[in-house]
Amino acid sequence: FGRRIHLLGSVDSTQNVARQFAEEEAADGTLVIAEQQLSGRGRMGRQWVSPAGKGVWMSMVLRPRLPIHFAPQLTLLTAVALCRSLRTLTGLDIGIKWPNDLLIEGKKISGILLESAAEEERLRYVIAGIGISVNLEEDDYPQDLLPRATSLRIASGAAIDRTAVIASFLNEWEQLYQTYESSGFEPVRLLWEALSVSLHKPAVLITPQGKIEGVPVGLHDAGGLKVIESDGTERTVFSAEMGEPEN
Ligand code: BTN
Repeated sequence: FGRRIHLLGSVDSTQNVARQFAEEEAADGTLVIAEQQLSGRGRMGRQWVSPAGKGVWMSMVLRPRLPIHFAPQLTLLTAVALCRSLRTLTGLDIGIKWPNDLLIEGKKISGILLESAAEEERLRYVIAGIGISVNLEEDDYPQDLLPRATSLRIASGAAIDRTAVIASFLNEWEQLYQTYESSGFEPVRLLWEALSVSLHKPAVLITPQGKIEGVPVGLHDAGGLKVIESDGTERTVFSAEMGEPEN
């Protein structure tokens, strides 16, 4: 895993390059890393700021032998591995906002985007895209993102070696993936819950079906968030934008 690495200069998005490799039968664990992305993608069709040399912009080709509905577990596993490796490397207090944003004091430093191709309900391949804002400075961000975005450098006050970030993530990911293969999702779920900053405080979730207000209490096996609504009903939310209540 991570032993075939394509190191590229400027690309549109490492997701597109990795998908191309996957379609050409690239092996499980093939990694695409770019210095710069000209049209980096975030979740929900958003753009991802990816300036040259300042971050880790990479995509992994995975070929898990799993049914398609396990894909969200891989996203959460990736968030846990990334959070653990960055905490160890930097000593910063980094938490996971559901489902897979990494935050420092409420500001985002990393995002994960999983795109998959399936055939007859089984995953053919998964492209796990990881963006880590390592050495970005404040003027690398558009003004409107500054209240919500930071970088390891801004948070720690020191430049951080991107190679060390990649190496420690890959080691952590490989270990956690082996645990997942041997013991299933439960250990990952527990680690996710321990690192989460989204649980046990009131939240507003904007879902495709409408707004839900309640207190998230845990992670569902399939990757959803278990929420207790104000009338006491528990429900599981699978896709939503999460925010804090206004009052
Ligand atoms: C998000 O939080 O919205 C997900 C951001 C994912 C960004 C990474 S950077 C490498 C890969 N290539 C992309 O275009 N996006 C992902």
